[in-house]
Amino acid sequence: MINPVVVQNMKSKLEGKHFLKLADFTKAELMDLIRYTIQLKNMQKVGESHQLLKGKTLAMIFEKSSTRTRVSFETGMYQLGGHAMFLNKNDLQIGNGETIADTAKVLSRYVDGIMIRTYDHAIVEELADNASIPIINGLTDDFHPCQVLADLVTIYEEKGSFKGLKLAFVGDGNNMAQSLLMGCAIMGIDCTVASPDNSQVDPEVFKQVMGKAAVSGAKIEQTNDPHKAVEGADVIYTDVWASMGWNGDLEKRKQSFMKFQVNDELVKEAKEDYLFLHCLPAHREEEVTGTVIDGDHSVVFDQAENRLHAQKAILTSLL
Ligand code: CP
Ligand code: NVA
Repeated sequence: MINPVVVQNMKSKLEGKHFLKLADFTKAELMDLIRYTIQLKNMQKVGESHQLLKGKTLAMIFEKSSTRTRVSFETGMYQLGGHAMFLNKNDLQIGNGETIADTAKVLSRYVDGIMIRTYDHAIVEELADNASIPIINGLTDDFHPCQVLADLVTIYEEKGSFKGLKLAFVGDGNNMAQSLLMGCAIMGIDCTVASPDNSQVDPEVFKQVMGKAAVSGAKIEQTNDPHKAVEGADVIYTDVWASMGWNGDLEKRKQSFMKFQVNDELVKEAKEDYLFLHCLPAHREEEVTGTVIDGDHSVVFDQAENRLHAQKAILTSLL
């Protein structure tokens, strides 16, 4: 049965807050969300009703495509007894020039929360500044916090604890790399990011990450040597080499990233019981070989499933 004390506890901590980036949350708050996710997951597995958001509506604004984020948020709201509304940019007057601020004020009069996937992170901040309801970041060019919460849940389930773990992110210093670094720094997980010199994470974000690591004790490093990053790693993570919205010369980019492919040779440097994670969608034989992503160490589909459970924890805590 759902423990009303747990629900009340989560609500008293997070009700009305936005979920824009992990840096806005403490280690204790993220740990509570991870445990709550696992509780909701167990309830769903045994078919126990947990309609905690009856009568609530979530607006979902998408300016970029999505499989996991869209389907898991919509299904999550349904399982919680609420309703989700899919809105792409062209369905909204934003597409005709209505301001983000006016959109935030109007939607706040109708719905109980907004999930948005967009380009510039400043857009979600502006939405949050003008809304009187919680705003959830479903991915920006800078951060993907819902994904990293699900990733942390997956690692916690597999390893039983975060203590002493090392995560290696190999590839583009993108929204995933930045959010993972932040998640690891807050939770006290050592993290090394290996990226080509011209694709490293934003120095300003890295500085904030180092600030969090100083509190948790996590060892955070950046390198352009994928072997150094993966050496002794418990978790290897990669993501696409060209994120949504990037429009340079793809063939040239693939050549400069080839050294960062997660393949059978590279994973030999990791611990024997390493886990392979990828936020998906994946491009096999680019950032990762089929032998690795479809191999025994890969937990990418458990990770994708956990998006559903983690977002239900976020939704019931905030809305
Ligand atoms: N990982 C992730 O966010 O996937 P989608 O782009 O399919 O939502
Ligand atoms: N870095 C990728 C993540 C997709 C979930 C992108 O932004 O396209």
